[in-house]
Amino acid sequence: MDVSTRDQWMDIASRTVAAQPRVALQLLSMIRGLSSITDGFSLDQMEHSLQTATRAERDGADEQVIVAALLHDVGKLISVPNHPRIAAEIVRPYVRDEVYAMVAYHQDFQGRWYYEYLGMDPNLRVRHVGQPWYELAERFADVWDQKAFDPEYRSETLDHFEPMVVRVFAKPTKIAGY
Ligand SMILES: [Fe+2]
Repeated sequence: MDVSTRDQWMDIASRTVAAQPRVALQLLSMIRGLSSITDGFSLDQMEHSLQTATRAERDGADEQVIVAALLHDVGKLISVPNHPRIAAEIVRPYVRDEVYAMVAYHQDFQGRWYYEYLGMDPNLRVRHVGQPWYELAERFADVWDQKAFDPEYRSETLDHFEPMVVRVFAKPTKIAGY
């Protein structure tokens, strides 16, 4: 890089911008990949993701929140223990800060419903009291995510959400310094 030129960087930048649609395509492919993970839950992780996003949409959430709900567990494709942070970093340049936080800390809120069975503190959410995104994160965890294991629920298909994913990932709103 120390011998690179302005012209080369202009070329790299324009090609990177032109290739941006691959981000949404890759993420949609990852969502499909979640269908291979069930791990004892009543639904596979793709169905859980579709159901979480559908519940958010039917409850009037905006597009960034719906897409983040769809992707909140996509990190499980890589590593379950740190999956919230993996998903949060994926959405971070494309959504407002409260939506990033909703994904990043969703496990702390969800713990209320099962951490006691794993010998962990079910009240981890209290560490986030006072954050401007607390209410959104609580709504996400309690009303949409933790309920989204119902095999009888009729979710929207991934095709339904595809245009939203394409729009949200069309252009990063922040690139560095966050
Ligand atoms: Fe989830």
